[in-house]
Amino acid sequence: MSTTPPARGISRGLTNYGDAGFAAYLRRSFIKSMGYTNEALAKPVVGIASTPSGFNNCHRAMPELVEAVKRGVLMAGGLPIEFPSMSLGEVFLAPTSLMFRNLMSMVTEEMITAQPMDSVVLIGGCDKTVPAQLMGAASANLPAIQVVTGPMMTGRHQGERLGACTDCRRFWAQYRAGKVSDQEIVQIESSLATTAGTCAVMGTASTMACLAEALGMMLPGTAAIPSVHADRLRAAERSGALAVALIDKPIRPSDILTPKAFENALRVLLAIGGSTNAIIHLTAIAGRMGHRIDLQTLNRLSDTTPVLVDLKPTGQGYMEDFFAAGGMSAVLAQLKPLLHLDALTITGETLGQRLAAEAQAAIWSDAKMIRPLNDPIDPQGGLVALHGSLAPEGAILKRSAADANLFETEGRAVVFSDLDDLARRIDDPALDIQPNDFMVLQNAGPTSPSGMPEAGYLPIPKKLAQAGIKDMVRISDARMSGTAFGTIVLHVAPEAAQGGPLALVQTGDRIRLSVAERRIDWLIDEATAQARRAQWQAQQASREQGQAKRGYRHLYLHHVLQAPEGCDFDFLQDPSKS
Ligand code: FES
Repeated sequence: MSTTPPARGISRGLTNYGDAGFAAYLRRSFIKSMGYTNEALAKPVVGIASTPSGFNNCHRAMPELVEAVKRGVLMAGGLPIEFPSMSLGEVFLAPTSLMFRNLMSMVTEEMITAQPMDSVVLIGGCDKTVPAQLMGAASANLPAIQVVTGPMMTGRHQGERLGACTDCRRFWAQYRAGKVSDQEIVQIESSLATTAGTCAVMGTASTMACLAEALGMMLPGTAAIPSVHADRLRAAERSGALAVALIDKPIRPSDILTPKAFENALRVLLAIGGSTNAIIHLTAIAGRMGHRIDLQTLNRLSDTTPVLVDLKPTGQGYMEDFFAAGGMSAVLAQLKPLLHLDALTITGETLGQRLAAEAQAAIWSDAKMIRPLNDPIDPQGGLVALHGSLAPEGAILKRSAADANLFETEGRAVVFSDLDDLARRIDDPALDIQPNDFMVLQNAGPTSPSGMPEAGYLPIPKKLAQAGIKDMVRISDARMSGTAFGTIVLHVAPEAAQGGPLALVQTGDRIRLSVAERRIDWLIDEATAQARRAQWQAQQASREQGQAKRGYRHLYLHHVLQAPEGCDFDFLQDPSKS
């Protein structure tokens, strides 16, 4: 029986020429062209999945983070090798970054498995990059540790603190209402995003950073360190060193990403008032491990998890305040009675051991920003799932960002058939709309041409905004930016492009919302619904004619799942097929 140890370091996964000795010799000779010595090439290899891009402002600090990770790897006796793995800058991608999250996850997975590395450090930041990296790392199942670029610092405008992107939306709404001038909006534009890093509020990027830590895939206490803070570089260095330790004592994503870890992450998502997008991403990451996050679980946890963190978009503070107030260590310490403390983390400690060590170290926290469990901002979580005849497979409402006066209401639907129709008519002075109507946007779901953009935050029609209306019930199969707010029902499933009931709603129909009953219902008689369905089906062939016939968009269209399944590709979800 052979006792040859498994290949490691640069000798892993040799290129197949039908002669392993030749392949190893050829690889060594080529890598030596980069100046490596035999001593360096004898070390275990830590891959660094790096994601800088001129189209990603949030990753501006990537070069120094990579340097810090490399320093940590070298100090611990490994050989760091950086590799590119795509970058997704939220506002630079059309039609939407979500369409490319799965592509980035595939690139991440394949580059981890195809290249010779013994463990990997993933460096992401902007909204879709961290979920894409976690999905890819989960599927690759090599020891992996997540690092994030960290949040931006706030800017200033006329003495007021500003942070992307809740304040972007607030000022834009004021501009639309005629309360901010053309000149001032240009000044504001220069003050919203002023440093390297991800959006300065608890948007999707910061939410996913916090959840990566809650899942156990990131070093303790590192999710919220600002991008420009020296601690961010120290976290990167320590992550590099830990990645070397993980080679001889492997902890794999499959050891960490368990159902208990996902339940912990959902608790944290609710307690921090995090982004609705995170439900889609967590579901997709869980799916890579063969675990399912259902919307009933979300509601059960939401009813029993208080909101503890006072941050924009639902509260007052910014991520720099959250970090100064104790960050994730403070949140987890407060949530401790609700968490699965036996969940394993990347350091080899359980969550309970981590919290015990931090309690002993008496880490400072600010109870004004991160409230105690017995004095929460809200006794219930910020997110709820709705079901009903308009959303048989579910929809999401961020109740913490909504107007509670609209929670138990019925209204007349005012329907926009897609984003072009919305853009064309929303500010038409002749638009027939009242403040108590329900605005409905169709064809903005995952398989629509728009690819499920963050368009669920439908603007208040200009004439109503100018009359002082700040919120209305808005319903769509789109997503919403984690930095937005309002009474907005999102992720309606099945989506309109797949013939869900949302596709059949017409202006003048009645819709009833009941947050107490967790319902969203289309009040229509069966015969009318059937007739509209027959009409929708008759028009389906002409809709399919305009769909992508080639390339990634063709792959996406034919394999993307609906929002309650995380919008992952159907062929990536089942780990037993690996
Ligand atoms: Fe990158 Fe907001 S645009 S995190």
